[in-house]
Amino acid sequence: MSLSLSCLSIQASVATRRPQASGYKLRRVRPEDIPRVSELCYDAFKDSDRGFLSPAGQSLPQWEAQYTRALSAKKRAVEEFFFLPIQQRILVKESIMVDDPRRSRQQRYIGQDGSPRRPMPRILRKLQILVVEERSSGVVVGCASLSMARCESALPPPFPTGKPYRCYASNIVVDRSHRRNGLGSLLVEKCERIAGLWGESSLWLHVEEDNTAAVSLYDNRSYKKMDYFALYGNGKTELRAKSLPKRSSGGMGPVKASLGDVNESKVFVWK
Ligand SMILES: CC(C)(COP(=O)(O)OP(=O)(O)OC[C@H]1O[C@@H](n2cnc3c(N)ncnc32)[C@H](O)[C@@H]1OP(=O)(O)O)[C@@H](O)C(=O)NCCC(=O)NCCS
Repeated sequence: MSLSLSCLSIQASVATRRPQASGYKLRRVRPEDIPRVSELCYDAFKDSDRGFLSPAGQSLPQWEAQYTRALSAKKRAVEEFFFLPIQQRILVKESIMVDDPRRSRQQRYIGQDGSPRRPMPRILRKLQILVVEERSSGVVVGCASLSMARCESALPPPFPTGKPYRCYASNIVVDRSHRRNGLGSLLVEKCERIAGLWGESSLWLHVEEDNTAAVSLYDNRSYKKMDYFALYGNGKTELRAKSLPKRSSGGMGPVKASLGDVNESKVFVWK
């Protein structure tokens, strides 16, 4: 089963506020994009001194393995969801994640009637990798990942943590020769919109305090520094988050999302 069966389907033609960005289109990653996306991440992060246990400085094959694992996890979740009996599908779709008052730093899924829900399909389904493709050449020149992660944890996965899952944007990269065209902003903006459509109230990300371009990008988009202590990395990593506008959770089925100032775009989200 291909990724086209994903619960979230995005087809977006890109035309941002910046005229330069109209030569690009934003779309979901395909399995054949993995080598190029890995190359972009490897090239962007290979020289950065991220310190102890940081996943950023990994080799090209490690990036490829990471993206392959992510896409397989997504595919499995979509298949799992697809083959659920219809009644259970409705339960999964209607469930929302809430803080669990019984365990202070845990979250759990509940249905609209407050009954507990099986969490895994929904957590795994909340994974989206976006790419920006140059229209003229068809080359992928940017990427971003959106997932549910325990980003406040003091150690990186797979170390255990009691921190809650947050909607988390990572590996936002634009090819060197395509920077300052608005693509970075476009990727972050799209991540925010998807997070909102997922029903998330905030979007979280990590940034190195000396990464001038990224810090300025996130400052522009109102990402605020959060309290954060990590036992890994180089001590320069900031955790930032932004509150997203509240979105009413409507009924079932595909939703056509309004993309505001991103013209001629269509986003269909299967909630
Ligand atoms: C960070 C990154 C994604 C930005 O991509 P981009 O396409 O150049 O970003 P945009 O063109 O949308 O720029 C948006 C804003 O970011 C800031 N910015 C981007 N590049 C900058 C730079 N070199 N110096 C200072 N500010 C910069 C500016 O405020 C800019 O707004 P402006 O052009 O109106 O002044 C890109 O530089 C990159 O891929 N860096 C390497 C990977 C990385 O560090 N990713 C972030 C991980 S947290």
